[in-house]
Amino acid sequence: MDTTGTLFMPPGQSTLSGEVDSLFYFIFYMSVFFFVLIVAGTIIFVYRYRRRGKAGLTSGVSHNTTLEVTWTVIPLILVLIIFVWGFKTYMRMNVVPKDAIEIKVTGQKWFWSFDYPEGATTVNELVVPVDKPIKLLMSSKDVIHSFFVPAFRMKMDVLPNRYTITWFEAIGAGNYDLLCAEYCGKGHSEMLGKVKVVSDREYAEWLEKGPGTGEGLNPVDFGAQLYKSKACFTCHSVDGTPNIGPSFKGVYGHKASLEKGGETAVDENYLRESILDPQAKIVAGYQPVMPTYQGVLKDKQIDALIAYIKSLKE
Ligand code: CUA
Repeated sequence: MDTTGTLFMPPGQSTLSGEVDSLFYFIFYMSVFFFVLIVAGTIIFVYRYRRRGKAGLTSGVSHNTTLEVTWTVIPLILVLIIFVWGFKTYMRMNVVPKDAIEIKVTGQKWFWSFDYPEGATTVNELVVPVDKPIKLLMSSKDVIHSFFVPAFRMKMDVLPNRYTITWFEAIGAGNYDLLCAEYCGKGHSEMLGKVKVVSDREYAEWLEKGPGTGEGLNPVDFGAQLYKSKACFTCHSVDGTPNIGPSFKGVYGHKASLEKGGETAVDENYLRESILDPQAKIVAGYQPVMPTYQGVLKDKQIDALIAYIKSLKE
């Protein structure tokens, strides 16, 4: 299996990456070969058969059957090879093995969330065991995103109102980049994550710990953890710098001017409303781009986030 990185691609880390690479390089080097052949041929013919005055007229040959059949049959064979090879690989990439672990993937502006069969949820980090087929059942809450893991040679669109399905089997433990490969608005370039491939035992332990339950944390620390794990940082800073949304620093206890006029006190109820119904009261100077977290965050998590925001005093 080819696992070495090249100029074009990072080291292949899935069971199918070697196959994808072989086909890619077959097409690539074939294109290079024909590019050189055609460009060199053009240059030679242009020079050799250039106009040299009346005496140098070329003969009036109009066609050559052998030559024409040859340059039709050879490309036909080549494209048929690409078709059969590509079709076989395509089928392998699209038929999910029966024993695959199913994980639900949700794309939304501008983060990824993952729901595991055992009830755990993560944001921007997909944790999977090595050497096990993983089925991804994917959908979007808003616009089209695209789930792209270069190391697995895997890319699949994630659409609103329907599911797309893909699968992979990682062949090496490690952290691999996850990107959104479909322009989806202002935060597209920050819609990044990791696929963390761990051993079977680590995976079982990790599931048991129950990520996102806040077990053993006080509300402020749990809120700080959620700020990271639920990707609030994509739009809200904690150092006072305005981003896509207002900074969390010192926001609690202030009066905020609203986009539609008037102002509101930033208290617990306003923070809760802004998490569950973000469009209700937009702060002046910001776009109404935040998605609702209704059904995404549990009450205990909302309480923790509010506690965390309250702790960020100026
Ligand atoms: Cu999501 Cu680009």
